[in-house]
Amino acid sequence: MEVVIVPDAEAGGRLVAEAVVRLLGHRPDALLGVATGSTPLPVYQALAATAAAGGADLSRVRVAQLDEYVGLPAGHPESYRSVLEREVLAPLGLGPEAFLGPDSTAPDVAAACREYERALAAAGGVDLQLLGIGSDGHIGFNEPGSSLASRTRIKTLTERTRGDNARYFGGDPGRVPRHVITQGIGTILEARHVVLLATGPNKADALAAAVEGPLAARCPASALQLHPHATVVADEAAASKL
Ligand code: GLP
Repeated sequence: MEVVIVPDAEAGGRLVAEAVVRLLGHRPDALLGVATGSTPLPVYQALAATAAAGGADLSRVRVAQLDEYVGLPAGHPESYRSVLEREVLAPLGLGPEAFLGPDSTAPDVAAACREYERALAAAGGVDLQLLGIGSDGHIGFNEPGSSLASRTRIKTLTERTRGDNARYFGGDPGRVPRHVITQGIGTILEARHVVLLATGPNKADALAAAVEGPLAARCPASALQLHPHATVVADEAAASKL
């Protein structure tokens, strides 16, 4: 695992955007695995700025969703599909045909998860998977205790994660959906390159456990220690306990 420490979140965003642009140089139709949350925003902003300045051709890029809430109506502004439309697809000038994601409104969620696994494989697999990290070490919505070999499936959120994400639901953890679909840890590990971005002091404990702790289901991000091409980009605050 390669660890790169950057001065701040914006510098991290620029660094990861540069890696994406390099990838697109030899693979213009790359499949990018995209995460939600506040951490990856500087990456999407830097990428959009580079494209606007003529420094990258994003016209053939495809994006694949990492995780999603279950139980929100289609088009709900806080569904991750809506968030990705606002924060990734629109700024990068991509249409819905560039998007791959699970159908979280399907009556049979387990079948929708299996279908998403098939769609990812049929698309050739993820070239670069961008990840944030939860304050409890989760990646995607793989909460502590998730099997390190898990595939895309339905999960129940912990109270801690519902509390962390309450800011998107008027500050009320009770309004955060209990159930989610997430790519499994085994699914995430199949991406050809995994980039985990961590910024801010409240990620310091989780990042230290992921990078320097034992490989353990209690810190799902520690599974990246198994990946042959994993990069961690952290600002000084998130890296303070390494
Ligand atoms: C959510 C998402 C994760 C994300 C995490 C951290 O739980 N499912 O994919 O990495 O939050 O979010 P943030 O970057 O806002 O701290």
